[in-house]
Amino acid sequence: MSDDSSPSLEGRRLILGVTGSIAAYKSALLIRQMKRAGADVRVVMTDDAKRFITPLTLGTLSEADVLGDIFPESSDASGSWTQHVRLGLWADLFVIAPATAQTLANLAGGFSNSMLTATALSARCPILVCPAMDRDMYRHPATQRNLQQLRDYDYTVMPAAHGELASGLVGRGRMPEPEAILRRIADLLDGRPPAADALASPSVTDEEADPPADPSPASASSTPADLRGLRVLVTAGPTQEPIDPVRMLTNPSTGRMGYAIAEAARARGADVTLVSGPTHLDPPGGVTVVRIQRAQEMHEAVQSRRDDADVIIGAAAVADYAPRRASSSKTKKDEAELTLSLRRTPDVLKTVGANKRPGQVLVGFALETDDERENARRKLEAKNLDWIALNNPREDGAGFGTSTNRVTLLGRDGTVDELPLLSKRDVADALLDRIVDPDLAPVPSPS
Ligand code: CTP
Repeated sequence: MSDDSSPSLEGRRLILGVTGSIAAYKSALLIRQMKRAGADVRVVMTDDAKRFITPLTLGTLSEADVLGDIFPESSDASGSWTQHVRLGLWADLFVIAPATAQTLANLAGGFSNSMLTATALSARCPILVCPAMDRDMYRHPATQRNLQQLRDYDYTVMPAAHGELASGLVGRGRMPEPEAILRRIADLLDGRPPAADALASPSVTDEEADPPADPSPASASSTPADLRGLRVLVTAGPTQEPIDPVRMLTNPSTGRMGYAIAEAARARGADVTLVSGPTHLDPPGGVTVVRIQRAQEMHEAVQSRRDDADVIIGAAAVADYAPRRASSSKTKKDEAELTLSLRRTPDVLKTVGANKRPGQVLVGFALETDDERENARRKLEAKNLDWIALNNPREDGAGFGTSTNRVTLLGRDGTVDELPLLSKRDVADALLDRIVDPDLAPVPSPS
């Protein structure tokens, strides 16, 4: 049965293909989640997968025999060598997680050298592939070529996640978390609307892949579609906290930084939602815009969408305090002095950080005038962020209302990357570059 927090897969027939990667242990968790969501699950394993996790474990969790041998010893009905054909016809979706470089190569080459690859060749249902391997194997042109080949066959490829790998290296290559795979399965089965579907499936581009020779129409010729398949949520602009119908507490934020990030992420292929306070800017094309006025509204808009986002970037200048009560009629100037009673507003990004799900990347901005780096790093820790972009509004060309910005990016791992004075769009791209590949070298100063 599904619970409230996971998508329902009630009555869905899923094949889970498991291959020989250390991430195979996560397959056990994935099966449990599939079963809890109401799916009927059959597991197919390669011989190498059995070195990492036993058929007994996966069979017990899936409550069905695990298939492995394409030519089983016995010839009774359940062990028939045509099992792969029947399985391929039975399923609503075939998920291969983890998918090793070896299996990707076999699938791309059309080999039927195992029960798993034979089933893939026989399957009439959509196939979702979740690669898992070491960073350099994942980046290798052969692996990337095989992934591209699978996309050309209309397979959906879920990009590997970034993080610590079994080898001790840090980079992209981790199997996505079972929760994320489950959501992608539900999206695929529910046939998401074309725009999102195009991002999530057949032509997903892995973040570390070289830019495709012919990027999508969403990308300018020089822009890599390296954020395809990622859902990016951006906050932008000021918030306005009403005092009465004609007065408010606000700040001079124009929203340009957040809008530039939304535009850059969209141009690079991401599925972008922009939660924006009041601005005079035209929203970038192809971006879902949610307009809000008060901090509380921004908070609600973000928290209700946060679990669907892979990347959340808080570029809004959220008011920290709001009048305790907004008067419904205009306040008259009867008194010589007026005291406003204020209350703290919710911290949007901190709440996101406190509920961060595995694999999510969170980015904040810090506007600091004193002890900049210490304060920014404190915010990064307190809000559980991966990156914080520090800027000082007193510096020339930085801060509110300018078309340029000078930021220092501080990473959770201690990285400090001082960017030169750049257009806000270039700052946005530099920030997104680090999300795509945190191992990137610092941006060189323009000559
Ligand atoms: N932020 C937020 N919600 C708030 C306040 C800030 O989401 N109520 C986010 C901003 O969008 C930014 C980051 O938190 O990404 C830091 O914002 P900043 O104004 O620099 O810091 P505060 O947390 O408000 O702390 P202080 O004002 O005390 O410096």
